[in-house]
Amino acid sequence: MSQQEEEASDQADEQSPVEELRERRREAELGGGEARIERQHEKGKMTARERVDYLLDDGTFREVDPFVEHRAQSFGMDEKTFPGDAVVTGYGEVNGRKLFVFAHDFTVLGGSVGEVVADKICKVMDKAIESGVPVVGLNDSGGARIQEGVDSLVGFAKIFNRNTEASGLIPQISAIMGPCAGGATYSPALTDFTFMVEDTSHMFITGPDVIETVTGEQVSKEELGGAKTHATKSGVAHFAERSEEEALDDIRKLLSYLPQNNMADPPRVQPWDDPTRTCDELVDIVPEEPRKPYDMNNVIGRIVDEDSFFEVHDGFARNVVTGFGRLDGRVVGVVANQPRVSAGTLDIDASEKAARFVRFCDSFNVPIVTLVDVPGFMPGTDQEHNGIIRRGAKLIYAYAEATVPLMSVVVRKAYGGAYIVMSSKFLGSDVNYAWPGAEMAVLGPRGAVNILYRKEIANADDPDAKRQELMDDFREEFAHPYGPAKRGYLDDVIEPQNTRKRLIDDLELLERKREDTPPKDHGNIPL
Ligand code: HXC
Repeated sequence: MSQQEEEASDQADEQSPVEELRERRREAELGGGEARIERQHEKGKMTARERVDYLLDDGTFREVDPFVEHRAQSFGMDEKTFPGDAVVTGYGEVNGRKLFVFAHDFTVLGGSVGEVVADKICKVMDKAIESGVPVVGLNDSGGARIQEGVDSLVGFAKIFNRNTEASGLIPQISAIMGPCAGGATYSPALTDFTFMVEDTSHMFITGPDVIETVTGEQVSKEELGGAKTHATKSGVAHFAERSEEEALDDIRKLLSYLPQNNMADPPRVQPWDDPTRTCDELVDIVPEEPRKPYDMNNVIGRIVDEDSFFEVHDGFARNVVTGFGRLDGRVVGVVANQPRVSAGTLDIDASEKAARFVRFCDSFNVPIVTLVDVPGFMPGTDQEHNGIIRRGAKLIYAYAEATVPLMSVVVRKAYGGAYIVMSSKFLGSDVNYAWPGAEMAVLGPRGAVNILYRKEIANADDPDAKRQELMDDFREEFAHPYGPAKRGYLDDVIEPQNTRKRLIDDLELLERKREDTPPKDHGNIPL
């Protein structure tokens, strides 16, 4: 080869800077490499990048820090570097609205969180807070990176700090799409909503092996900390999804109800359901007989815009229903007793579930509609000993501190403390209605006459007949809403079929509601 030919060949081999950039980006996009990507797929899981692409509107993802590498040296780490390390971070759009996202990349060192992984996550969280944009974290990680020791633990502390700072400023959503163990579970737990995927995601502080060693108890990963367990028993997960795709679809849906930040209103959509529609079916859905069960979801579904109700936490504490819906295109949060489950009583779990939902709505300018049909707090030593007093108090606190528009409707009965707790007038509710068949009293008729007339009933020739007679008298006195209506505790008694129209009118008016609270660091909600 002549010298000229050699020079020409060298030039052709030399990469241009742009080509080098593209090459580096391609390498970064491979994460832990093709074999590990394949292993991920074999487990029925998407890679971090596939999840991000699925979640965001097409072509909107802008990656941040794709070339960051860890600086650890020990335990052979100097030979295990990957551009971007074990998390993919950046921003994009969902339904045309901005969103920050981070996704642990399990193909790189098991998605473990070392110093720079934590720094990358903190960077997008800081940007999300500064720019008032929600953040979604897609978790799939072996937790703290063992080789980086205390730096990994410190990394988690930095993330927890951001989670707490962001709380109430921007919506934070977590999806668990793989392992999530130890202290790593606390970052999702600090966010507003947690999604899990059945069979492939697990959350626990200590896994089955440690449990067996310490306590001798044998339990599977799924039973201990799978999606169903957390969505029904512990309440850690708000959504248990059958697949990653379903989880990501539902995250997109959830975001459609949420404002970008605490200074913005939730997005109103073009209404598709007639705001003056009467709901004639409501008259028959709720039985007159106060103890007969029915499905409160049917009531909610008739009142809100057609097909707009999106239930949150539907498997946990099912005696209370929480979720988002729309009234004439405006977003509302709905809290309702569910007479189909435990007669709709308020117990510890129901109180905490509803309280957390109310506080979310209040933080993010979502007006709350409360539908009341509650026989009282759940009696029993189990409830008392586990703290129904301090834990039920959370719901009082949540409603009483809320400054968003609050509207409530007693659809059948509201007894005792539970009446007061469920968005009653003097806890600060703006609009209070009852349907004509509503009963409102300190106790239900049976409980009341058993206490007031214990001796009379015991001494009667026919105690059951006497009790019934007294219960009928009691009902006559209290089995209607006109006592509270006479005192102004109810703003009006309305016909069931007009509930939707009336709430829509009120919501339009209350949109302008402003309530100032005196400055303080924060209150001291009973935890
Ligand atoms: C470093 C880790 C890792 C970790 C996994 N890997 N976890 N590397 N630190 N914490 C690596 C593995 O060495 C392996 O690397 C790769 O990731 C895949 O892991 P596998 O074990 O092959 O995968 P799998 O069988 O699916 O099991 C996944 C797993 C398991 C269940 C997550 O790896 C595991 O139990 N890891 C340890 C979990 C843990 O105890 N973490 C600490 C939690 S405490 P190679 O190179 O072979 O592919 C915590 C504290 C937070 O997080 C504190 C906050 C205050």
